[in-house]
Amino acid sequence: MASAATLAELEARVQGCLACPLGPGRLRFVFGEGNPSADLMFIGEGPGRDEDLQGRPFVGRAGELLDKMIGAIGLERSEVYIANVVKCRPPDNRVPTASEAQRCLGYLMRQIDLIQPRVIVTLGATPLRELLGVGEGITRVRGQWKRLEPQGIPVMPTFHPAYVLRQYTDDVRRAVWTDLKAARAWLDRPKG
Ligand code: URA
Repeated sequence: MASAATLAELEARVQGCLACPLGPGRLRFVFGEGNPSADLMFIGEGPGRDEDLQGRPFVGRAGELLDKMIGAIGLERSEVYIANVVKCRPPDNRVPTASEAQRCLGYLMRQIDLIQPRVIVTLGATPLRELLGVGEGITRVRGQWKRLEPQGIPVMPTFHPAYVLRQYTDDVRRAVWTDLKAARAWLDRPKG
């Protein structure tokens, strides 16, 4: 897997994965999609029902909101890359277990290494915990820059769009907007 030279090659190699108990229960493997050399990468938790049916990340209601979030910072979905911690739907949309997430993490890490985004935005608590080992509540840590090592990629944690839909308050929406603007401002800095 580490030797996969492109995202397409990686996807072809791993799409039949049965390394954890989520594999046999899926309809579709949801690898991720977007610009293979995106500057901005979004990382969610795992596929839900719509994603499992279509084999694409963030295509349900949360995905509609994610599209709006991307648009709000002047980008299109096709310009960014969207992936999840786990590639197969957890039953009843439960949070993936640490063991499921860790089995799948190598795929996400390889995606990150191939894409080499300049900024990652994590959506909700799961990617933050599994990718960065940050176990604090998302309400406390959102908006605070983290760094993915050893790549040294800045990570902006924000709320998951599904949470925003459930908790559609001015405070939550303002928080997400602040986080997205910070990510956009980083992208707008001169490179180097
Ligand atoms: N929620 C996620 O975390 N990922 C998806 O792809 C869809 C909903």
